Amino acid sequence: MMEIVKQPADADDAAGFGGPPLCDAEFHAIRDLLYEWTGISLSPAKRNMVCARLAKRLRHHGLHSFREYYQLLQDDSLGLQERQQFINCLTTNKTDFFREPHHFDFLRDPIIATLQTRQVRRLRIWSCACSTGEEPYTLAMILAEHCPRSQGWDTEILASDIDTDVLAKAQQGIYPAERIAPVPEAWRRKYFLRGYGAKQGQVAVKPELRHRVKFRQINLTDDHWPIRTTFDVIFCRNVLIYFDRPTQSRILERFTHYLTPGGYLFLGHSENIHWLAERYRPLGGTVYQWRCPHDTPAPSVTVPARPIPPSLPEYSLILGDVKTASQPAILKTLLGSCVSACLYDPEAGIGGMNHFSLPGSSDEGTNTRYGVHAMEMLITAIMKQGGERHRLRAKVFGGAKVLPVTSERLNIGARNSAFVQKFLATEGIPIEAQCLGGTRGLIVRFRPDTGQAWAKPLAPSDLTDLLRKEEEFGRQLQTQVAAPADDRITLF
Ligand SMILES: C[S@@+](CC[C@H](N)C(=O)[O-])C[C@H]1O[C@@H](n2cnc3c(N)ncnc32)[C@H](O)[C@@H]1O
Repeated sequence: MMEIVKQPADADDAAGFGGPPLCDAEFHAIRDLLYEWTGISLSPAKRNMVCARLAKRLRHHGLHSFREYYQLLQDDSLGLQERQQFINCLTTNKTDFFREPHHFDFLRDPIIATLQTRQVRRLRIWSCACSTGEEPYTLAMILAEHCPRSQGWDTEILASDIDTDVLAKAQQGIYPAERIAPVPEAWRRKYFLRGYGAKQGQVAVKPELRHRVKFRQINLTDDHWPIRTTFDVIFCRNVLIYFDRPTQSRILERFTHYLTPGGYLFLGHSENIHWLAERYRPLGGTVYQWRCPHDTPAPSVTVPARPIPPSLPEYSLILGDVKTASQPAILKTLLGSCVSACLYDPEAGIGGMNHFSLPGSSDEGTNTRYGVHAMEMLITAIMKQGGERHRLRAKVFGGAKVLPVTSERLNIGARNSAFVQKFLATEGIPIEAQCLGGTRGLIVRFRPDTGQAWAKPLAPSDLTDLLRKEEEFGRQLQTQVAAPADDRITLF
């Protein structure tokens, strides 16, 4: 196991490292700052470690006491820059290639083995406390071996950490040669380059493996994670131990918004989450599966920015349309306050899109009837092509507040969004990604055979035309709604 050498950890006496002593009050103040910024809870036993690791920061700034250093951290300009150094000093980054190897066996079988039988072979993995990169590169080797692109696999690995020093090392992918001892001999030759001359004794991850991993700085305790997709697998190993129970619960709860239905969570060997058994089903060996209740609110995420295949035929939908396809194609629509549900069956490779709006009637029954009709039209059309209702997944878009609204009751966008979310929850169709609400129109493209979707804000000129159509459509609906409510009201 390797630990980035910061300062000797858990030293007996900080004074032995050339630093000033750390009194109780200073330790408590520093401990509270670390907790606030990272969620890391330090026990009193870590006092000497803190003292030893921060001593170099004091020397760097020519400070003579921890009180001065604490004051510097509070400083608006210098403190902000120092904050990251402070965090980097106090994280513990122990890791290894193939650490807890049974986890990688489980990833191969059953996870990859099951996906292999599907028509859409998509696998997204997040290593959320990746340290110096050994964990995500181990994952990358497994995917390189078992999920070849030539067999239609679409895989991605996101690796993140709060510590910018370890992230820089991870991105470089250069390690002392002995670090790759746990890697099978044949894979060492296949995925690593040996250093010569000045680089003797080092190995570098080959670019083709390095490029399989995207590194980002993400603080797990931040309110916002800059993530725009959902994952089939999250590796969150050996980091929860540093957090207290409320912090652990908050993070684990949020993971459910970033896991695909039935997605897997891998924890470290000494971590267990038995108190969240309702959320995560224990599968043994600290592997868990999200139980995915359909009433879990979906995250406010858009889908990843991947290139749109240029050669596919593109079909445009307007308000009231429903379209499906089992062949590679792009369905496109422009949305203001309307919503578009994009549904697909990943196993059959069939999907479709609708584009609708509730009439905005004061009678909720009328609104619901219109919405249900639009959704059922789409589901029926997908099933006619061979899709299965119970396998459907959804991506939903639109519902922006683009029309002038005098009261929340008249906020058609919000009504549309709430309707589509409620409908899908009731029907047990999981929402994989959504971009609902806001104040800007959207242009959405959807590839029904793979479920990929792209959404971007509309240019103001496109929005003007769209608004005119939406207003006109709203007026038509109001006339129809005012008519006696009977079976003659059909919209699409
Ligand atoms: C012991 S390492 C685990 C590495 C790897 N997952 C493994 O099991 O081998 C813990 C990592 O968690 C990171 N960490 C600590 N607090 C964090 C936070 N709030 N957000 C993200 N990462 C954090 C540390 O920087 C450190 O690199």
